[in-house]
Amino acid sequence: MSNNTTSNRPYLQAIAGERLPHPPVWLMRQAGRYLPEYLKVREAHSFLDCCNDPELICEITMQPIRRFGFDAAILFSDILIPLVPMGADLSFDKGHGPRIANPVRTEAGVAWLKGVHPASDLHQVLDGIQLLRKTLPTDTALIGFAGAPFTLSTYLIEGEKPDPFVNVKKMMYREPDVFAALQEKLGVMVADYLIAQYQAGADAVQVFDTWAGISSESEFRRVTLPTLKTIFFKLRSVGVPSTYFVKDGNHLLNAVAELDCDVIGVDWKTSIRQARKAVGQARTIQGNLDPTTLFGDEASIRAEVRRVLDDAGSEGRHIFNLGHGILPSTPIESVETLLDEVRRG
Ligand code: CP3
Repeated sequence: MSNNTTSNRPYLQAIAGERLPHPPVWLMRQAGRYLPEYLKVREAHSFLDCCNDPELICEITMQPIRRFGFDAAILFSDILIPLVPMGADLSFDKGHGPRIANPVRTEAGVAWLKGVHPASDLHQVLDGIQLLRKTLPTDTALIGFAGAPFTLSTYLIEGEKPDPFVNVKKMMYREPDVFAALQEKLGVMVADYLIAQYQAGADAVQVFDTWAGISSESEFRRVTLPTLKTIFFKLRSVGVPSTYFVKDGNHLLNAVAELDCDVIGVDWKTSIRQARKAVGQARTIQGNLDPTTLFGDEASIRAEVRRVLDDAGSEGRHIFNLGHGILPSTPIESVETLLDEVRRG
């Protein structure tokens, strides 16, 4: 099943390997705090309220599309949302970020985590997707997403900003079977949830692995890669185009190349040329402007965008993005400059 023809959606065309006048462009965290219209919504609604209301999901997802006309919309939600029906007591405190009041650190804790039935447990997200499908311009792709099991487990185990990962490593090395069981449980949830998003109307899905890079290649191969392989195998079997985004993953590229996904997303420390060399010509690369360059002046932003475009080369198979989420105080004009430079081709 395919939700849409790829013919008029540049994001999907780039995934299919079609040559385009310039790469499609969207930005990670494009709906968020650098936008005055987002801050306005947040004055009246908490972050979790926004994630739990289909109308607000649709409205906030649309905000950057209306303002900038990006080639793809990313569903407004958070990677931690599906942990709530699993049993996590999740909150977002102002200035602190996410907090899970009941972190999972034992065998009993992992066994206690509930399975997720997206159609009932996460219906608000799926309703938001259905609404978006009716609202988005026809040439704009809709990207659904989930966190990778490893990254999700870092929040679930630590209960807050995971760094320095002491409890994660404790479980990984003292109780490897429990850690593996947690990866598997999260992996089942992620695959089911992404397939449900596709069936609700998302054109493609992205798996965010923000913290994969803390592992060496051998640890990554042992604890993370098997679950990821299963997820992408399931996504391939339903035919949904998929992206694996890895931050700080330069040393993992050879292992990442083994994943059966369509797009590899990289941060600014990995050159696009390097990524393409590792994963082959048949894959599309997404990235990878350093989000802090958007605090530079116009000429420097244009020069940095150009550097990314040159790095990607002229053979297509490139989706322009930042190497990580756009930062809250980013000037709007910087985003306009970025877009103008990318669209010059
Ligand atoms: O990209 C998008 O615009 C879609 C929405 C989206 C959000 N979070 C919204 C959000 C996506 C795809 C995410 C992914 C996410 N969330 C990741 C993986 C990618 C990455 O950025 O590393 C992670 C690790 C999280 C967990 C999370 N959520 C953190 C650590 C924080 C606090 C730090 C921060 O940036 O504020 C959040 C909160 C969050 N998620 C906000 C938004 C818009 C800010 C909420 C607010 O105060 O309004």
